Amino acid sequence: MSDNNNSKFQPTPHNSARIGDIAERVLLPGDPLRAKFIAENFLEDVRQYNEVRAAYGFTGKYKGVPVSIQATGMGIPSFSVYVQELVDFHGVKKLIRVGSCGAMHKDLKLRDVLVAQGVSTDSSIVRNTLGDAVNFSLIADYDLLSKTVENAKNLNLPVKVGNVFCTDRFYNDYDDVNGVFGDGKKSFNDRLRNHGILAVEMESAALYLIAAAAGVRSLAVFTVSDHLLLKEYCTAEERQNSFGDMIKLALETIIED
Ligand code: HPA
Repeated sequence: MSDNNNSKFQPTPHNSARIGDIAERVLLPGDPLRAKFIAENFLEDVRQYNEVRAAYGFTGKYKGVPVSIQATGMGIPSFSVYVQELVDFHGVKKLIRVGSCGAMHKDLKLRDVLVAQGVSTDSSIVRNTLGDAVNFSLIADYDLLSKTVENAKNLNLPVKVGNVFCTDRFYNDYDDVNGVFGDGKKSFNDRLRNHGILAVEMESAALYLIAAAAGVRSLAVFTVSDHLLLKEYCTAEERQNSFGDMIKLALETIIED
């Protein structure tokens, strides 16, 4: 999987893009309709390069710079298929995931924009890749992270930066009183909170792992769509508005050198 420009892999069974169809800079929403919305509302000269499995992919220009938008679906397995192919076969160098997350911490509120400085996970992908001996740190590219924080200031958009929890299970019993340890003390979510985990989502561990192995730059940015502590949820309209702020921030960052 390291033969970057090997045309025998194009198109793949998952993505009908051919070499040259995808820009070196890619935004990664999970939802295909979000991908379409971003392409139609933020880019110029847009071409669609993929509709296999409705995982829409588009390339266009933002402020004159080629940028692609690739939908990934939900969860690490789906996300990994698209992202691995982007870096292995299409020469993608910068990836920013633009997603939603569930806030786990009192310091966040609905619609906040959050940047994942680091990712912790219950997924087995890290140990399947590196073995049991290493607790690998899944970290953002520092350059993308610092530029995002700087651009957020310029856009007057408050952002939170910190550690997120990437889970394989949207539906779980982590909030049960006894949690996974069964010791009657704190729930698993409380333990995460007490270690500064700000939010939960389902893809960024794969992003930071694949990017690290490929030597490319990646960052995950989220808007808070629901709050696990406060039991609050964004309306569709609220999601759309806050989502737009995050997209602008991600695009401003990804076009920089
Ligand atoms: N859990 C996991 N992933 C999510 C959530 C959540 O509550 N909200 C948005 N992505």
